[in-house]
Amino acid sequence: MRAYSSHKDIIKLVNKVDSVGLVPTMGSLHEGHLSLIRRALSENEKVIVSIYVNPLQFNSSDDLKKYPRDIKNDLQKLEALSDIIAYVPNDNEMYKKDKKKKKYNFGQFTKIMEGKMRPGHFNGVGTVVEKLLRMFNPTNAYFGEKDFQQLILIKALVREQKLKVNIVGCKTIREDDGLAMSSRNKLLNNTERESAGHIIRLLNKARELYKSSTLEETKRNILKDALMIENLNLEYFEIHDTSDLSGFFEQEKEIRAFIACKVGNIRLIDNVTI
Ligand code: PAJ
Repeated sequence: MRAYSSHKDIIKLVNKVDSVGLVPTMGSLHEGHLSLIRRALSENEKVIVSIYVNPLQFNSSDDLKKYPRDIKNDLQKLEALSDIIAYVPNDNEMYKKDKKKKKYNFGQFTKIMEGKMRPGHFNGVGTVVEKLLRMFNPTNAYFGEKDFQQLILIKALVREQKLKVNIVGCKTIREDDGLAMSSRNKLLNNTERESAGHIIRLLNKARELYKSSTLEETKRNILKDALMIENLNLEYFEIHDTSDLSGFFEQEKEIRAFIACKVGNIRLIDNVTI
């Protein structure tokens, strides 16, 4: 593993290789991130992992301040994998003097769920991911299904901007009790962590209910159940056909249940196919 803070140094290393994989992250690396990185390593000659807590995608300065950062530990984890190029820029390297969000218009799916609850968030994500894709021109770039709307946004962005990169969606990696791994899980205290374990229970129950109930009945039942979980405040629970969400490109028809909630003060999201 070698870490660089300037993209120019990395471009020199990758401009003659056959395939480059990019894994964008905000650090505090866990098994979810590492699964993307391992897949990238198995499919590309060189792999770049970016670690950058992108200020443009946070909705409040408090959330940005509290976001877990552990760069020393992250680099140790990357060291344990094979040959990784770590890109660790600061704000100036990433945005120069132009720390402004680009405005995208990807229609319906950026207006519901995360798009609705976190205004401007997807513009912030799009801005940084487009920059990274243009910087390194990777063959493949890897994103998790854990952030399903984000994955769809990136696919739409690549299509609209006519970028020549293959976007690879990767399965959600979970803790033993089913909680989706997330850098934010570190911020939960013990009782909150226990409550967070119920999120997957709600999603699995939705899958069962949806086999024999209507959408409305399923939703009502899950909302009622969520009320019983200590420390957990549901922001939304929705079921969508993902082919309706994409808009800009053909996406396989697939029904997914999506959830966002606050456990204590920590906001968590998850989704499953149902
Ligand atoms: P971050 O939350 O660090 O996640 C980086 C990548 O890891 C994302 O593609 C995310 O979907 C994936 N990921 C996170 N948890 C996962 C899990 N449990 N299983 C599988 N994949 C998982 O998402 C971001 O950062 C940022 O928005 C970013 C794309 C880097 C732009 O700033």
